[in-house]
Amino acid sequence: SGSQIAVLGLGTMGAALARNIARNGFPLTVYNRHADKTHAFLEAYGAPHVSGAFSLEEVVRQLERPRRLMLMVPAGNPVDAMIDALRPLLEPGDIIIDGGNSHYTDTERRQAALAEHGILLLGTGISGGEEGALWGPSIMPGGPRAAYDAVAPIFEAIAAKAPDGTPCVTYLGEGGSGHYVKMVHNGIEYAIMQAIAEVYDLLSRVGNLPPAEQSAVFAEWNRAELASFLVEITAHILATTDPDTGRPIVEVILDKAKQKGTGKWTSQEALDVGVAVPSITEAVEARILSGLKEERVAAAAQLAGPSPEPDDAHRLIAATRDALYAAMIVAFAQGMALLDRARTEHGYTYNLHDVATIWRAGCIIRAALLEEIRTAYTETPTLANLLLAPTFREALAERQQTWRETVHIAVRNGVPVPVIAASLAYYDGYRSERLPANLIQAQRDFFGAHTFERVDKEGVFHFNWA
Ligand code: 6PG
Repeated sequence: SGSQIAVLGLGTMGAALARNIARNGFPLTVYNRHADKTHAFLEAYGAPHVSGAFSLEEVVRQLERPRRLMLMVPAGNPVDAMIDALRPLLEPGDIIIDGGNSHYTDTERRQAALAEHGILLLGTGISGGEEGALWGPSIMPGGPRAAYDAVAPIFEAIAAKAPDGTPCVTYLGEGGSGHYVKMVHNGIEYAIMQAIAEVYDLLSRVGNLPPAEQSAVFAEWNRAELASFLVEITAHILATTDPDTGRPIVEVILDKAKQKGTGKWTSQEALDVGVAVPSITEAVEARILSGLKEERVAAAAQLAGPSPEPDDAHRLIAATRDALYAAMIVAFAQGMALLDRARTEHGYTYNLHDVATIWRAGCIIRAALLEEIRTAYTETPTLANLLLAPTFREALAERQQTWRETVHIAVRNGVPVPVIAASLAYYDGYRSERLPANLIQAQRDFFGAHTFERVDKEGVFHFNWA
């Protein structure tokens, strides 16, 4: 009998995922465009139920029907090229799973094209990096229900398990919903990473705390409300020494952040559908600004800033702890608000409770607070904004003063904290009964007769400003 699934693409993620599938006992075919990688994989991880294929024809021949083909190739053209090459070899009912970070619109375009041939495409976000892929990622599948049902036993076996034993995978609905959820996951990932980096910057530049001492701070934070994968790895990173120089590794890494686009897509999408995600957008902007290293070095000698005023490290640690937790809550609130809008905007049918459920383990943004997010949506599925859930409303009320102090200290010392500050502005904007948009409306009406509504009567008005 044949293989139950094939993994095509044996890069870091593909190879780790294939090993995970093999470890769970599913008969598997592996394929890579360059045969040497297939040979290397078989040599290292070969087993009686794992077979190599050296052409797409061979992949297709080795698979049970309906065929399940998991593409682990870079998003963009490589996915189209692979689908184009496979399509003539496949039969109606066969299933392609795209496990990369494809844009949801690409997924929907490919689903429509493949549907004409009766082939099903499951757009599947996979999070957790190499370790996650190997030992249990969070899996975010979207596409035809029949395709999901056919791969569910494999996905449930290889996925991360939440503390209550639930596999971190669920059917998220039709179309590109799986890749959409993964895109927003990455937007939240960008915001939390940047907020952590801002705390590191403050503790370094204002608190004068060396990385090793900061590592202990993050490690302690990781034992309470901030417990999360990103805080945990930060503690680890800050304790790591570069063997070549003996210096903390963070101090020898160039301060230019790269990006592959998923954070930017989240912001672009949010602008398109009119959902405010300033924390995510500021994180993308911060990466862009970091890229101007040469310009920044030149500007550092020319543009004035305040002289640094070292702050009490204990006070700073206490304040930044609160600010980071607040910023994390706001990042999730914004991401969830975008996911919620996509339900009406794109007709997606996932619910936010399920999304929080499958993010609890395996993925990069896994965090203790996801359990509370899940509870919030269990209690109130129609919650207008996560900030309004009693648990977060109270958490923010307790921390809003120290959150403001953190922004104060940063501004006073000229240390940029775009995500922590934007999160606070979002919080203050969202809780403002009255915003100065009345003046914006007046300006629009003044220069363009764009009209306005009034607080005291129904209708649309234009004022004769002349
Ligand atoms: C994950 C990550 C993963 C990858 C991102 C990073 O969930 O496992 O998000 O998908 O690390 O592509 O994106 P950047 O390269 O844009 O930082």
